[in-house]
Amino acid sequence: MGVPSRLVSAVDAPSPPVFTVRPALAADVDGLVAIEAAAFETDRIARRSFRKLVEAPTAAITVAALPGGRLIGYALLLFRAGTGMARLYSIAVVPEQRGSGAGTALMAEAERVAYARDRLLLRLEVREDNARGIRLYERLGYRRIGRYLDYYEDHANALRYEKRLRGDAQTTAVRYYEQTTDFTCGPCCVMMALGHFRKDYALGPVEEIKLWRQATTVFMMAGLGGCDPHGLAVSAARNGLSASVHVSREGSLFLESVRDPEKRRVMELAQEDFRRQTIAFEIPIAYRPLDVAAIRAGLAEGALVIVLISAYRMFGKKVPHWVLVVGDDGRHLFVHDPWVEDREHETHADAANLPIPYADFERMARWGREPLRAAVVLRPR
Ligand SMILES: CC(C)(COP(=O)(O)OP(=O)(O)OC[C@H]1O[C@@H](n2cnc3c(N)ncnc32)[C@H](O)[C@@H]1OP(=O)(O)O)[C@@H](O)C(=O)NCCC(=O)NCCS
Repeated sequence: MGVPSRLVSAVDAPSPPVFTVRPALAADVDGLVAIEAAAFETDRIARRSFRKLVEAPTAAITVAALPGGRLIGYALLLFRAGTGMARLYSIAVVPEQRGSGAGTALMAEAERVAYARDRLLLRLEVREDNARGIRLYERLGYRRIGRYLDYYEDHANALRYEKRLRGDAQTTAVRYYEQTTDFTCGPCCVMMALGHFRKDYALGPVEEIKLWRQATTVFMMAGLGGCDPHGLAVSAARNGLSASVHVSREGSLFLESVRDPEKRRVMELAQEDFRRQTIAFEIPIAYRPLDVAAIRAGLAEGALVIVLISAYRMFGKKVPHWVLVVGDDGRHLFVHDPWVEDREHETHADAANLPIPYADFERMARWGREPLRAAVVLRPR
């Protein structure tokens, strides 16, 4: 049929293959309707919906089929344009075939399809009383993120789950470190680079605060306690790295949200000092933004790149944030994000070596109304 399919064997079955998984075709609609009728009592997807969904660019249906062609299960993904998110709208296996790995195989294929379409998060809802579904998702690493009351036709509640997809993400030799304060993202990026380039260097919270004190432009008051690119480059150079600064314009940065005149004055003076120190350390400054192509070129030469992003797209907070770019696979940049969002039940696994599609990264790597763009390229000296 010209459609790629994957052979899957049951875990302990003596004679593989048992079923194949492949994308659904228009001719599969009858089979999909039959699975739906066998698997669900309520909230069934109608035949006309399957007919549309099989063709829709915003959906992807994967089916599991026996060697004779009979369909035994499907997984249906929906994609919303312009987001990094896919939603598992439905998954079902006919009752007599459950427990033989079809559900697991359909989930694996759905994750692969979503990742191939640059979706990095897969979300789903499951009935609170569906122990089997919940077990499957939790076994596959899905994290519970919420609950909807009265979600289904019969008033049952739904649990919401989410997984961050990795595809075949390559590993990185750069050690990850999670920031231990709200304001040390930049210094933590410098520290991870130091840990990578200097074999004698030990990462830890004392170093985190030391690097922050070397790089921050702000004294303690409400608002930003962060670091500017010149300060980060200077702290990297002080600790033995070679650095270059790339910033979209000259002058003081991050002042648009600072109302207190005294704080503005201190920030301006501190940044002036850092610009002078940058020159004293002979750190090159380029007054133009570093785009994805330039970041990739730096990585290819063994550099690591600290980039300013707006945390808005990641966490919904309009604060400037620094991440460390550690890898590139030809479609995504991989970042170590020192911030782990505890409130979203994140762990290191969500923040380390995180793949971000190039176009998303370009949109993310800017801050404020200007917008400001800034990066610091780090290399061993
Ligand atoms: C949820 C559902 C899709 C899972 O499908 P499945 O084909 O049974 O899933 P798997 O076989 O991959 O895994 C189910 C279990 O069988 C086990 N299993 C997998 N292959 C096996 C094999 N060859 N031999 C024995 N056990 C096996 C798995 O380890 C798993 O164990 P668990 O009980 O600890 O979870 C299926 O139960 C279903 O269609 N349910 C009704 C519809 C539904 O609830 N959909 C989800 C709505 S959100």
